[in-house]
This record gives sequence, structure tokens and C-alpha cells, in this order.
Amino acid sequence: MSLERYLLPISILCFCCNTCYSNPIEGRLSNCVDEVLPHKEIAYPTYFGTINNEDHRFQSELTKAIGFKPIISRLRRLDNVGSSQTSNRVVNVDDFGAKGDGTDDTKAFEKAWEEACSFAPSVFVVPKNKNYLLKPITFSGPCRSSITIKILGSIEASSHQSDWNNKDGKHWLLFKMVDNLRVEGGGTVNGNGKTWWENSCKTNKLLALTFYSCKRLILSNLRIKDSQQMHVSIEECINVVASHLIVTAPDTSPNTDGIHIAGTRNIQIMNCVIGTGDDCISIVSGSLNVKATNITCGPGHGISIGSLGHYESKAHVAKVMVDGATIFGTTNGVRIKTWEGGSGNARDIKFQNIVMHDVIRPIVIDQNYCDSKDPCPEQCPVSPESCPRLAYSEPEAVKFSLTKKRGKGTP
Ligand SMILES: *[C@@H]1O[C@H](CO)[C@@H](O)[C@H](O)[C@H]1NC(C)=O
Repeated sequence: MSLERYLLPISILCFCCNTCYSNPIEGRLSNCVDEVLPHKEIAYPTYFGTINNEDHRFQSELTKAIGFKPIISRLRRLDNVGSSQTSNRVVNVDDFGAKGDGTDDTKAFEKAWEEACSFAPSVFVVPKNKNYLLKPITFSGPCRSSITIKILGSIEASSHQSDWNNKDGKHWLLFKMVDNLRVEGGGTVNGNGKTWWENSCKTNKLLALTFYSCKRLILSNLRIKDSQQMHVSIEECINVVASHLIVTAPDTSPNTDGIHIAGTRNIQIMNCVIGTGDDCISIVSGSLNVKATNITCGPGHGISIGSLGHYESKAHVAKVMVDGATIFGTTNGVRIKTWEGGSGNARDIKFQNIVMHDVIRPIVIDQNYCDSKDPCPEQCPVSPESCPRLAYSEPEAVKFSLTKKRGKGTP
């Protein structure tokens, strides 16, 4: 079936400088859109802090690891990430009692992690052709040195909801404060989320794979599927490359975002194929310098910035570039969503070279986002600064028409 490509490469520069996320109704938004600004560098304010010194060694290691030069240009010293020298200590979960036969392997993984984390550069191996069942588990740092986790086989979440009760009830695999971490290997991380989807609730936000406060993180060559809710969440991290990830869940699975980025600086996501029941990529407050290239997204809800400013919070997102994406069969294409009553801004956002097929709402800038059962009260008056300021490098890009979803088939 050949589907019309109704939105050929678009390029948008968007500066949204809000003192108050307000409530532009359609007509008001189109008034705002008339203002076209040239692209200019914005000086980033101090809430993002300063970025570390440049490190060429990490750059070249990264270049080797991912096949081309990443945008990350300011990195600190990094030992051994990206290398698998024979001097690395190999920690195989099977040597710690893991069976990989569908019985609970959580204890064995915990022991193996302790070993890997407390010695010189380690390679933590999850062997091929086995399926390791894990309850919620935390891999905590800081570790003595760099760690490479090679997931060759598969890791599957316990499907018993009672297993979540004694932990924080939110994370399945949590990597916390582990610096110089690589996770790779071509294996599968299976959240086994079916039982969760049936009685899914927005408030619990279950996460399959979370990286919290990790510096210099490389995620590559993994399949992540059927998460309870969000698949991969990268929170408060600095200097991250995520590449060659295949993230999948049924389009009917609720709140199963593909890659979620919060409070993270310097992150590049590339060569990823993501199709889930929610956003393929979602970028929320505190994120700075996010680049996504060669992303295939669909089905799902598209690529989103936000939502920002929920519960009248302050939110800042800056310097996001999505350059090169194919989005198909999604409800939204690219989107910025903010709640009324919040404050802060989303600025220097670029979406370019994006091809969409069968997308219901290709470009959405919603300053009146309301994702609750009850209607959200109108909270603040519209001030001129709250208008999104957009620049289109190709004027015809905005002449899209909203089309109806035409079924699941894609070319
Ligand atoms: C884009 O990503 C896909 C999926 O990982 C990969 O197969 C393809 O080679 C990538 N294209 C380029 C130009 O890197």
C-alpha cells in the first residue's frame, strides 16, 4: 500500500519563552505563529549549571563504539568505556548461581553486581540463549571503575505484581549513580508488562530500565520490550549516548513511553526504532542539549517535549534537536506540551528532516495540556511572552493538513 507522504522534510525552530504557560486557543496560537524569528544561539542560564571540560579520549572511544562522531563535545576523562580489554574482570551471572531457566535469578544478579562494582574494570555478562527472571533490582554505584554490561541473552521481569511491593514500587531495573557504564550485547530486556497494562494507572509510572544520576553512559544494541510502563528512563544523567535500541510494545499498552529523558544534559539518541503505546521519546524538565537522529517512531504518540509545568511547577528544557526521523502511524508527530499554571520555558527546539506517514496531528504545540479526568482550570492570563515563537526554514512545511488515520499499514 502506498501512503501519501503529506509532510516532507520539515524544519522548525521554536523558541518558547514563557513566563507563565498559558492558554492560547487555536486562533491565538496562529497569531503567535506570525512572528518569525531568526535562529540565534541562546546563552543558557545558570539553572543548567556548567558543563565539564572537553575530553577527546572519550570522544574517540565513542566514535569507535557508535560508528560516527557524536555531538557530545564536552566530556570529562573516561577510563575504559568502550574497550573490552582482556584485563577487564569478567563477571558472569551464572557463576553466581543464576539459572536462566525461568526461576528467580535476582539474588544471583545482586551478588554478581556487587563483585563487578567493587573491582577494576568489569564486564558483567548475561549469557546467551537463556532467559533470566528478575524481580525489581537496584544496581547501585558508585563503582570502583567502569562497567560494561553485556546482555547477550534475555532478562525478563517477574509478572507477579506482589514482587514490587517491598521495593519503591516503581522501578524494575534501576542503575543508580553508576558512572562510566555501558550496556550492550544484542540481547533482550522484557518487561513482561501485560499484567500491568490491564489495570494500568497513571500515578504509578512503572519503569523497566532506569538510569539515575549516571555520568558517561552508553546504551547500545539492545531490544527492550513490553515494559510495565516506560521502557527506558534516563534521569539526572550527564553525557549519554543511546544507539541501536529497538523498543517495542503493543500500541494499545498504556503509558509505555519508549525513551524518557528527564533532567539530563548532553544526550544523543540515534539509530533507534521505537514503537509503543505512548511517546516514542519524551523529554521533560531539566533536559539540556538533547539530540535525536535517525529515529523510526511508530506506532505511538510521537516525539514529545513535556509535559511541562504540571502542578504549577517550574520547568526548563533547552537545546533539543530532532534531526532525521520517520514517524508513522502515530497520534502526534512532534509535540511540545505544557500545563497551564506552570512556569519556565522550552526553548531552542529544532525539528528537522522529519518524514511522517499516517500521523493524525503532525505538529502540536499545546500550552493548555490537560491529561486528567477533570477539566483543568484556566490558570493564568495570556501574556505576549507566552506565545511560542516559531521559525520555519521552509515555509511550505506549515501548510500541512490534518488527515485522518488510515489504518495500520505502512509502506
Ligand atoms: C538508522 O537506524 C537504523 C536502525 O538502527 C539502522 O539500521 C540504519 O543503518 C541507520 N541509518 C544510518 C544512516 O545510520
